[in-house]
Amino acid sequence: MSNKTRHVNDVAFDGYEIFDSEEDIQKYRKSKIEDVQKNVHFIKRFFNDKMTVLEIGSGNSKFLYALEQHGILNRGYGIELSNSRVDFAEEWKKDLKMNNVTNINSNFFDCSLEDFPDFDLVYCSDMAFQLFDPSERGNDVKCLETVYDKMKSGAKILLEVEDSKNLFKTMTNDEVRVWQEFDESDPWRYLLWECKYETDDSWIRYNKSFIKRDLSEIFNSSIILKNYSREEAKTMLQQNNFVNVQIFEYWKEKGDMEDDGYIIIGEKE
Ligand SMILES: C[S@@+](CC[C@H](N)C(=O)[O-])C[C@H]1O[C@@H](n2cnc3c(N)ncnc32)[C@H](O)[C@@H]1O
Repeated sequence: MSNKTRHVNDVAFDGYEIFDSEEDIQKYRKSKIEDVQKNVHFIKRFFNDKMTVLEIGSGNSKFLYALEQHGILNRGYGIELSNSRVDFAEEWKKDLKMNNVTNINSNFFDCSLEDFPDFDLVYCSDMAFQLFDPSERGNDVKCLETVYDKMKSGAKILLEVEDSKNLFKTMTNDEVRVWQEFDESDPWRYLLWECKYETDDSWIRYNKSFIKRDLSEIFNSSIILKNYSREEAKTMLQQNNFVNVQIFEYWKEKGDMEDDGYIIIGEKE
C-alpha cells in the first residue's frame, strides 16, 4: 500500500452514507430518489432512446437508478472514490434488483475506460468536477480528454458546477463563514462552511464542520473546489473539442439547484 498522503478532496467523502437503522436508510433513499427526479426530467429533453451512461463521482448512484426506473437506461457505470458510498450504492442496487448498473470503487483518474462500451452521456453532477483540478492540477482537462475518446458521435457531456459569485460578494479579505441545515432524513443536522478564496488558482478552500442531528458529535473535513465562470467553463469544453456548448440555469424550475450553480452541456461531433 502507498504511503502517499491522500489529497483532502480524495478523502472528503469517506464514511458518507453509513446509517444506524433500516428505517433511516429507507427514508434517505426515498429523499434522494425524489431529489434526482428534476435531473432525470432535464436529461429526457435530450434523449429519445435508452442510453449508456458514465457518471463520474456517482456517490450513491441515485441518478443511474432513477434513469433505470424511468426506463431510459441501457447500461450505467458509476465511478466513485468513497468506499462507504459504493457500499451503500451496492446494497441499494441489490434491493432494487437492477443488473444494468455497475458501481466501480475507484479514483476516476486510476480507472481505465478501455473495456467500457462507448457512452451516450457522461454526467458529473453536484460540483464533483470542481474537485478534480485542486486534487491534481490539470485533472479537469484530463477528465474531458479521457471521456471524449469513449463517447459516441453526438453523445453529450453534462457538468453541474458553480461560479460562486454570490459567495465572493459575502467575503471579507477573500474569507467567509456559512451555515447550512439538512433535511430530517439526514443523520447530520448542521454544516458550518469556512470558506477561503485562493485567487491565483481560482480555488475555494472549504473547511466543513458537520453537527449530528442530536448534537452529540462534530465531524470536520475539508474540500477545495475550483471555481469556473460560465465563460471559463464554455471555453474549456470548446478547447477540448466539444461543440454545441450550452448553459442552463436550472434542472426543472428556477431555484432547484445551488445558488451559484449552473449546468453546462457539450456534444461530441
Ligand atoms: C458532491 S458528491 C456528488 C455525488 C453525486 N454525483 C450526487 O450528485 O449526489 C462528489 C462525489 O465525487 C466523488 N469523487 C471525488 N473525486 C473523485 C474521483 N477522482 N474519482 C471518483 N469519484 C470522485 C466523491 O467521493 C463524492 O462522492
